[in-house]
Amino acid sequence: MDDAPNSDTLEEYVTALFAPEDPVLTALREEMRRLEMPEIQVSAEEGRLLQLLVSLSGARRVLEIGTLGGYSAIWIARGLPADGRVVTLEIDERHAAVASDFARRAQLGDIIDVRLGHALDSLRAIENAGEPPFDACFIDADKENYPAYLDFTLRLVRPGGLILGDNVFWSGRILDEDDTTAATTALREFNHRLAHDPRFLSTIVPVRDGLSISQVRHP
Ligand code: SAH
Ligand code: DHB
Ligand code: MG
Repeated sequence: MDDAPNSDTLEEYVTALFAPEDPVLTALREEMRRLEMPEIQVSAEEGRLLQLLVSLSGARRVLEIGTLGGYSAIWIARGLPADGRVVTLEIDERHAAVASDFARRAQLGDIIDVRLGHALDSLRAIENAGEPPFDACFIDADKENYPAYLDFTLRLVRPGGLILGDNVFWSGRILDEDDTTAATTALREFNHRLAHDPRFLSTIVPVRDGLSISQVRHP
């Protein structure tokens, strides 16, 4: 078809139909802009997919690594039952404060639990505290540490649970063999492990910058 709509137009169609923002999500994006925070949150379309995936998996407890203003955490929380929990890890005090504020404004203050600190420290603390296992984890913080985060999820997410990874295309840099920067190398290793480690059943959905979806297989 010569005049087929382009993929941007089709993405807008999907977003308008399935992922319209409520006033809280729109206000959150506006507040992030006003505070000059990086606007690198998931798209509404990707947020809707996260919501659907956690709902499909029957998750009650979700771990998120990389909160920013809480935009993805709100989408995820809206896929959980009323007694669900999103434990979300953030290193930047300003980001964490915005996320806590907007979780409350979205009436998700009891569901979204923002924890301040380096995610590797928070993950160690979660493991040492013997917190109940998570049903799902969304990895979206510093790309250099994705392989280390994956190691933690294998210990913290229950067998049969869900592991999601954002930015696994890294704007296509993943395919550029000359790109040996730490972030790109780490993301390549992350994707390779999801593909080849028999403990994962995985694929990548080409939404936005690539979202990896994995199930932790039962032993
Ligand atoms: N998931 C969010 C976007 C996260 S952006 C959304 O879609 O709405 C990545 C976030 O990870 C930033 O807020 C950044 O401050 C945080 N971050 C980066 N390195 C981190 C680390 N080592 N530990 C915890 N958070 C980190
Ligand atoms: C970047 C990080 C993200 O998590 C994202 O979704 C988009 C961009 C970045 O660091 O450039
Ligand atoms: Mg991301």
